[in-house]
Amino acid sequence: MKEKLQNIREEALRALEAADVPEKLNDVRVKFLGKKGELTAVLKGMKDVAPQDRPKVGQMVNETRAAIESFLEDRRREMERVIREEKMKKEVIDVTLPAKKNMVGHRHPNMIALEEVERIFVGMGYEVVEGPEVEYDLYNFEKLNIPADHPAKDEQDTFYINKEIVLRTQTSPVQARVMEQGRLPIRMIAPGRVFRSDEVDATHSPSFHQIEGLVIDRQISFADLKGTLEVFAKELFGPETKTKFRPHHFPFTEPSAEVDVSCFKCGGKGCRFCKGSGWIEILGCGMVHPHVLEMCGIDPEEYTGFAFGVGLERIALLKYEIDDMRLLYENDIRFLKQF
Ligand code: DAH
Repeated sequence: MKEKLQNIREEALRALEAADVPEKLNDVRVKFLGKKGELTAVLKGMKDVAPQDRPKVGQMVNETRAAIESFLEDRRREMERVIREEKMKKEVIDVTLPAKKNMVGHRHPNMIALEEVERIFVGMGYEVVEGPEVEYDLYNFEKLNIPADHPAKDEQDTFYINKEIVLRTQTSPVQARVMEQGRLPIRMIAPGRVFRSDEVDATHSPSFHQIEGLVIDRQISFADLKGTLEVFAKELFGPETKTKFRPHHFPFTEPSAEVDVSCFKCGGKGCRFCKGSGWIEILGCGMVHPHVLEMCGIDPEEYTGFAFGVGLERIALLKYEIDDMRLLYENDIRFLKQF
């Protein structure tokens, strides 16, 4: 019996020694110590042992079990240590390795120009508001004095969603929306995207941006409009900048004008930039038409106001001397980084 237990012990220790993964340790445990294991079989055979020898044999069995269990535990700990070490080795971080560079974008020239324009007008007490890009024909045209048969509504340059809804062709509908709210006086600018069915070329895009301006108060005159836009032009293009108001026509303003600024490249002498004229056109403006005020619920006898509309891309192209508008929409970081 002693010999048998000795054999079991040696065999078990050998098997544990040979086991290379924790699962195999468990197999050994089952084989020797499990319910149907070899050591258990010895215990079951106790009935054949002479009664006086039983305590001795029992003790030997227990010793064998303890020896196997203890070695199994040692092996298990050792294996876990090795596994942990390997894992640590794999996860080690080489802090001397150069870091991956994050690609950082760049502010778009449109955005830089818009922030500049906003800074100027907010400084004069204007509020910045927004209107919808998908707009009712009513606001985009009707309420701006552009009736059903007006050529400005031509299908050639308007994207119609249906008869009543269009992609706004200008930011001017925001004027009507703000006036209708009835909170006077008004001093606001409204930047945003507009859409026209235009072919793409160096100066046209079917989607571009405008900044609308509107002031409504008692006793607002054309002098206020001139003074405001003069300050705007000087802030934007430099203190030497001169402005020129040319009579023009817009349905929603009367009188209306287009504003030119003296060429900031040549100072007005005439160059390639201003096509030799010394002047560069930058915006449309005028005194809000009394009929527009009326349609938006404002009494034209009591209130007057002025409005203007600037093309944002045009400002960005001029300010940064970019000669092709398409560059603004390619989002090539090599281009954008220059501004
Ligand atoms: N909405 C006009 C356009 O897209 C620009 C404009 C002209 C806006 C005169 C105005 C204005 O507010 O008074 O061509």
